[in-house]
Amino acid sequence: MLILVAGITGNVGQEMALAAFNAGHSVRGLSRNPSKLPESISSKLESFVTSKSSIDIPALDVACSGVDAIVCAYKPEPEPSLDGQLMLLRAAERSGVKRFHAASWNLDWSGLPLGEHETYDAYISFLHHARVSSPIKPLYTFCGVLAKTFFAVPKAGKLEDNSSFWQRIEDGKRRINVLGTGDEMYDFTPEEDAAAFTIALITSEKAENGGVYYYCSDSFTLKQWKETYERITGREVEWNVTGLTGEMADGLVQKMRSEALANDQVREKLSEYIGLVYVKYLLNGGMGQKRSDRDMFPQVAAHRKTLEEYIKKNPEF
Ligand SMILES: NC(=O)c1ccc[n+]([C@@H]2O[C@H](COP(=O)([O-])OP(=O)(O)OC[C@H]3O[C@@H](n4cnc5c(N)ncnc54)[C@H](OP(=O)(O)O)[C@@H]3O)[C@@H](O)[C@H]2O)c1
Repeated sequence: MLILVAGITGNVGQEMALAAFNAGHSVRGLSRNPSKLPESISSKLESFVTSKSSIDIPALDVACSGVDAIVCAYKPEPEPSLDGQLMLLRAAERSGVKRFHAASWNLDWSGLPLGEHETYDAYISFLHHARVSSPIKPLYTFCGVLAKTFFAVPKAGKLEDNSSFWQRIEDGKRRINVLGTGDEMYDFTPEEDAAAFTIALITSEKAENGGVYYYCSDSFTLKQWKETYERITGREVEWNVTGLTGEMADGLVQKMRSEALANDQVREKLSEYIGLVYVKYLLNGGMGQKRSDRDMFPQVAAHRKTLEEYIKKNPEF
């Protein structure tokens, strides 16, 4: 198949392209900045369409023309996630495309009302609007926390700096900033596994039916993470108990959000509390996986990486 990857220059977009190549498909890229793409990917593309913005309709029409499937991997910002995805969906409709995987690969926001998790509001709005207005039935995959976000690789997700679980500190040591008790379970998926599942899904016979799918490569607690990393690398992991609980995060979010709403300052104040919104849901499990579709594609399941395998492959993290 010829697969269009929108947002191909991003962390997840690049993995989508690699997974599509691995599965024997052709890839067309769509993005604003082709220079962000490594030669190893750009040299293998069927073509690359450069857009001026996520709502550049002439570019979207060129990009969607003649493709069999579309994967949207835009950055989780409101404008590309809602305005941009909707314009991409409309261009897909004009081109007769029936296979569309929307930006997702998150905690499961599919049942969440608006206003509970502002980063996901654009995705939730897109899902509901597409459902009532488009003949295309998009696919969505929920996979827990992506590996580079878990390991706080710079620019790979919101759990960085002060809101990260994982810190690289002096003398090669690592630190886990413990939220809750350390016994809560986290779903974990390396980016390449999420991409392999997505490409298998969008090229499968189920793709045109759309719907929500659940894939994660592994699940573990923060205590198991520490033990696994220490055993494999021989490097000590400092256990820094923050004392932050899900209830505390919820209380702080409610206070900060209601002040922001009262002053019509949500856009300006969001960055001050969105990390706590993630903490609340990570600890209370409210956005956990509702089922597992991990074994839907045996070739994907066979190559998934557990935490242990991922650390062996990336000991420098
Ligand atoms: N579960 C997790 O832990 C986790 C972590 C991270 C991401 N994700 C999910 O993965 C998906 C992709 O995220 P990512 O981290 O790969 O994103 P990213 O690397 O930050 O950005 C992806 C691409 O979006 C394009 N883009 C950014 N702003 C844009 C704009 N205003 N208009 C048009 N295009 C724009 C950029 O391409 P150009 O600049 O070339 O246009 C960029 O390469 C999202 O659905 C996100 O929610 C999940």
